[in-house]
Amino acid sequence: ASRGDVSRRQHAHRRVLVFPLPFQGHINPMLQLADVLHGRGLAVTVLHTQFNALDPALHPEFTFVAVPDGVPADVAASGSIIPIILAMNAAMEASPAVRDVLASVLADDGQPPAACLFIDANLLAVQKAASALGLPTMVLRTGSAACFSCFLAYPMLHHNGYLPPKAESQLYTPVKELPPLRVRDLFRTSTSDHKMVRKVLARASETVRNSFGLVVNTFDALETAELDRIRRELDVAFVLAAGPLHKLSSRSTGSSLLREDRSCMEWLDKQVPGSVLYVSFGSLASMDGGELSEIAWGLANSGQPFLWVVRRDLVRGSDGPGLPEGFDRAVEGRGKVIPWAPQQEVLAHFAVGGFWTHNGWNSTLESISEGLPMICMPHFADQMMNTRYVEAVWGVGFELEGKPERNKIAKAIQKLMNEREGEVAREKARELKKKVVSCLKSGGSSLLAIDKLVEHISSL
Ligand code: UDX
Repeated sequence: ASRGDVSRRQHAHRRVLVFPLPFQGHINPMLQLADVLHGRGLAVTVLHTQFNALDPALHPEFTFVAVPDGVPADVAASGSIIPIILAMNAAMEASPAVRDVLASVLADDGQPPAACLFIDANLLAVQKAASALGLPTMVLRTGSAACFSCFLAYPMLHHNGYLPPKAESQLYTPVKELPPLRVRDLFRTSTSDHKMVRKVLARASETVRNSFGLVVNTFDALETAELDRIRRELDVAFVLAAGPLHKLSSRSTGSSLLREDRSCMEWLDKQVPGSVLYVSFGSLASMDGGELSEIAWGLANSGQPFLWVVRRDLVRGSDGPGLPEGFDRAVEGRGKVIPWAPQQEVLAHFAVGGFWTHNGWNSTLESISEGLPMICMPHFADQMMNTRYVEAVWGVGFELEGKPERNKIAKAIQKLMNEREGEVAREKARELKKKVVSCLKSGGSSLLAIDKLVEHISSL
């Protein structure tokens, strides 16, 4: 029998519970981790909020349980992640609902006994409910190791005067405690309320410190120093780098909150290998109509084939793409616009040669996994930090700084797709992809991390 078969038989009597934060960039890696653990023979129960509720029909192999989240309708409608995290936690802490649901899940004797609960670092309230029931928690960090290291350093960053930035001129000051970050690369948010961000990050650090162990969706060779820094600072049973999780998971789709427009795959089939620029700014970033128009004309003027994801809510205050007049005609046969893509498949397609991204961590890792160079246009949160690593550490792309402007965009696209600087980034991206391949091989660091994780789970 193969090692997998033995491991499956061995763990068939255990179950893990998982509870993702209900945002796309957090749901995907948590369900990928769940899928990997399921592949190792563990049963999986997915707890999910009513806000951005998951569709159980997409994962018949898991059991789904809805949990009341208490997010007020106006906060939910704002789509703003920081206030939603705080409101959700406050409501969950004020009510016994989460504990009641967890208690009934644990009492379900139709299922194998639960070993532990995997939570997002932003769900301290859920951890408190689990602790009250004696259920151990493990945390999945869906961002980079560098990002979590920055969370842990947040009090120091304030104490040493880096945060909040006092003047524009301070933005390029190097943060000598966290190289190669500068003040502008530190975790930032669109909310002006700095206190709120501080609170959310402190709670995330607390959740990890309280946990049994931490899994980070990264791999050892990508963030060696950053992982070491976290390991030195945390007193938990393990800090495991088990990513890129989407490459370990057997399914590339199935956790999208939006419907994927698969027509782009046939379109890509007809394009020249490596010629297409894929453009997407993730699940949350938004812009105004003027910025959208500059991007549209930048793409049109670049002369490059492109596939562009324009979510229905990408432009603030509108409900639809709102592309400029004449754009469709200008890019006919060369460009395609869709509301949501099967992104991991798109990035792996032979026709795609570059990615213009907002550098959400999942997108960054997905790009690295396919050896694609990037144009980076970070919006908020951890995205500036990811951009900094892409540019200054891994050398697999460059930032498009400042407000989007059509001429600047067209030049950046040419640079990435057809000029020397892009070629250098592409070569480095190919080299980095080899490291991804090796961490996923038998005996590779991420596979070993999963082995260790399964051992820890079975020891509980
Ligand atoms: C970002 C940050 O990265 C995250 O850390 C923070 O907490 C919130 O903002 P998001 O905008 O969702 O999250 O970006 P990203 O982390 O890149 O995740 C987006 C996910 O959606 C990726 O897995 C990507 O493959 C998927 N996606 C995106 C699609 O499936 N289709 C699309 O068209 C676009």
